[in-house]
Amino acid sequence: MLTNLWRPYTQMQGAPPPLRAHSTQGCTITLEDGRALIDGVASWWTACHGYNHPHIAQAVRDQLARMPHVMFGGLTHEPAERLAARLAALLPGDLNHVFFADSGSVAVEVAMKMAAQYWLNRGVRTRRRFAAFRGGYHGDTFATMAVCDPEEGMHALFSGLLAEHAILDLPRDDESMAAFDDFLQRHASVLAGILVEPLVQGAGGMVFHDAAVLRHIRRAADAHGLPLIFDEIFTGFGRTGTMFACEAACVVPDIITLSKALTGGTMALSAAVARTHIFEAFLSDDPSHALMHGPTYMANPLACAAASASLDLFGEEPRLSQVDAIGAQMRQELAACANLPCVRNVRVCGAIGVVQLARAGNLDALKAALVSQGVWVRPFRDIVYLTPAFTITPGELSTLTGALRRVLEASPGT
Ligand SMILES: Cc1ncc(COP(=O)(O)O)c(C=O)c1O
Repeated sequence: MLTNLWRPYTQMQGAPPPLRAHSTQGCTITLEDGRALIDGVASWWTACHGYNHPHIAQAVRDQLARMPHVMFGGLTHEPAERLAARLAALLPGDLNHVFFADSGSVAVEVAMKMAAQYWLNRGVRTRRRFAAFRGGYHGDTFATMAVCDPEEGMHALFSGLLAEHAILDLPRDDESMAAFDDFLQRHASVLAGILVEPLVQGAGGMVFHDAAVLRHIRRAADAHGLPLIFDEIFTGFGRTGTMFACEAACVVPDIITLSKALTGGTMALSAAVARTHIFEAFLSDDPSHALMHGPTYMANPLACAAASASLDLFGEEPRLSQVDAIGAQMRQELAACANLPCVRNVRVCGAIGVVQLARAGNLDALKAALVSQGVWVRPFRDIVYLTPAFTITPGELSTLTGALRRVLEASPGT
């Protein structure tokens, strides 16, 4: 059927028609044709409490009755103030200054702007580049495309149009640590900051690294006085086993970006949260030293109310132990895939289970086979992954892992 919709990451010519979702509940997506799919993706990692959690729904309804939206320029409101205070209390160290935006990419852009202007406000005009890492993914807007992996990532086509930054190997062993240190030794003076997805590089390939990598980057950033940005848009809110991935490394970044599970999967909202020394670099008698950013729907009250309700659930329900249990179950059940001829590697971190295939196969066929098994899983390239809601039951999770195993067993050439 012809539609007016231009779909994400889709070659519209000849694309198989997308499935039509009708409703959601818990960990299930019900299609218009009545089929029910167990969701293995939690809607791009947002719906950490499952769908339609009544506590979030009630908070959004209450806020809708009072004030769905009001501009944030010149005005403030209780839902934003409450959420900012709660995030500041929850985040480690003095990550206390919360700038709200409406998508992950924009939060990363704001974080990059904060780091760049941190220098400009001090009269330093030569620091125009960022250091980021191969395998990284930070968004689809122009500034964020420029800090994604330039070759493996999905934005290689745009290379000539993007700002040039330093995309380095993660310092994960002696050799790459020495190369990283050497690069900073030679080029730190032109850098505005360093940007990394802590513990898991998500959309770039679900690649994990040790907390020691983050400690090394933190030490190096300190040695050169560089603002360090942790992009926790994927990893934030429990996904890797601690509330924020930075906690596992006992490292406090200078700026952290959050989105995705921030509202428990109900509304678009993101934040770039800065430490006090970054915030203070913007305090001045000079009006041009202000952070010149202000998305129209910034701090949308509905989204802030949803996010506060989501934080209530992290306090009231055992989310982090659910993450541990999901990880343990996936480790056990996905092990059955490890010896299949089409599988290169199986790995689990927190509530992220990854089956990496020996080669990228026919993704459309793979997706269709998974749907026919009653599960919603979205492989990309050679990566088949599970990032379910933390509220998924052991039975539902077994349905997901079992479906994955059966589909991969049946398609050895995948
Ligand atoms: C680590 C990371 N940063 C940024 C983004 C971009 O977020 P959004 O799609 O909301 O713009 C994503 C999205 O997957 C992400 O995983």
